[in-house]
Amino acid sequence: MNIFLNKKILLIICGGIAAYKSLEIIRLLKKRGCQVKTILTRNATKFVTPLSAASLSQEKVYTDLFDEDNEAEMDHISLSRWADIVLIAPATANTISKISSGSADDLASTVILASNKDIFLAPAMNVRMWEHPANKDNLIKIKNLGYRIIGPEIGDMACGEYGEGKMTEPNQIIKAIEIFFNNKNQNQKFKAIVTAGPTQEFLDPVRFITNKSSGKQGFAIAESLRDNGFDTTLITGPTNLKDIADIKIIKIKTAKEMLDETLSNLPVDVAIFSAAVADFKINNVGKQKIKKEKNLNLILERNIDILSHISNHNSLRPKLVVGFAAETDNLEKNSKKKLDEKGCDWIIANDVSKSNIGFNSDYNEVNIFYKNMTNELIPITKKKIIAEEIVKRIISQIN
Ligand code: PMT
Repeated sequence: MNIFLNKKILLIICGGIAAYKSLEIIRLLKKRGCQVKTILTRNATKFVTPLSAASLSQEKVYTDLFDEDNEAEMDHISLSRWADIVLIAPATANTISKISSGSADDLASTVILASNKDIFLAPAMNVRMWEHPANKDNLIKIKNLGYRIIGPEIGDMACGEYGEGKMTEPNQIIKAIEIFFNNKNQNQKFKAIVTAGPTQEFLDPVRFITNKSSGKQGFAIAESLRDNGFDTTLITGPTNLKDIADIKIIKIKTAKEMLDETLSNLPVDVAIFSAAVADFKINNVGKQKIKKEKNLNLILERNIDILSHISNHNSLRPKLVVGFAAETDNLEKNSKKKLDEKGCDWIIANDVSKSNIGFNSDYNEVNIFYKNMTNELIPITKKKIIAEEIVKRIISQIN
């Protein structure tokens, strides 16, 4: 099967000597049946001509942000929406810096900023530029924003120096994109459920018990599953996060509602329980607001454990059940105990006694405990990257 057939690729060529190789990228993509539209930055036109790109792609080539003809025919927003993916090759240090600061002062940077698609960059620059701390910081920033970096490679440079900074060869760039499309395609047959956020257990119509979960980690996992082609359902307690496009989102308040929604959305292939579900609920929720005259004695009863219930489901157990563990002490011992007692396949533990990770932070550090008694640490990084790392492992497990 030709995974490239009829795919729409928006190729952005920036001003670097490697730009001449981008013409080969157009040729290879066309040969595989892609439709390729090309944007040349002003500096790119010094290295390759719009005519060469137009001849090879058999499409109009775009260079100016304020071009009357283009705006009437296909404006910069439509251009960013048209593509299945955006490929920036070569991506210069200047373009990487512009992306990292959100600058939009020409057609290429405006389209990139306006894009809602997966964006690949194949950087190419002199080794000193590549190694410059400013460039490295920009790369970390854009990786955290979800941009995908291909290369660069080590080798002789056009400037005569040697080192890292050569653009990855066109056929290798095509290979990286092929792997991406293949993954997406293959994963489309998989269904996933993610639980996220806190639950609320009501004392009376206006008061409830809850916790500090923001939903950030669970939302990031759901988003990454979607990006990798999974048919994803997100069941979430109350959060301040925006809905994620192309995901079925179910909003609940109590643990009981989360359990009911989880059950009614089975069967799935993968279930990831990252929600901070309240362990206790009030056994007798009053219909009226509780009066404050007297001391209040609450009797709390155990909530059903959703993770445990689904892990031990006779007929509808997902192929892979992943639980989380929020620990403040004895992380390894407690996580292994949860893995054993709850019957799930993995426990992803985070130490929530640390102030910079876990609840409500944009960062996390997790230790994945597997059933075969091995474990793997993913050191502190953005929750988005943690999510991508978890999803990578899910993909290799279920395939
Ligand atoms: O939401 P964020 O602010 O981004 O923070 C992320 C997080 C810290 C909430 C997340 O990384 C995390 O650790 N989630 C699990 C929180 C938790 O409730 O852990 P636990 O150790 O109490 O529970 C263990 C597992 O059982 C969890 O998968 C939990 O979803 C599940 N559980 C717990 C109780 C219950 N009644 N039903 C359950 O399914």
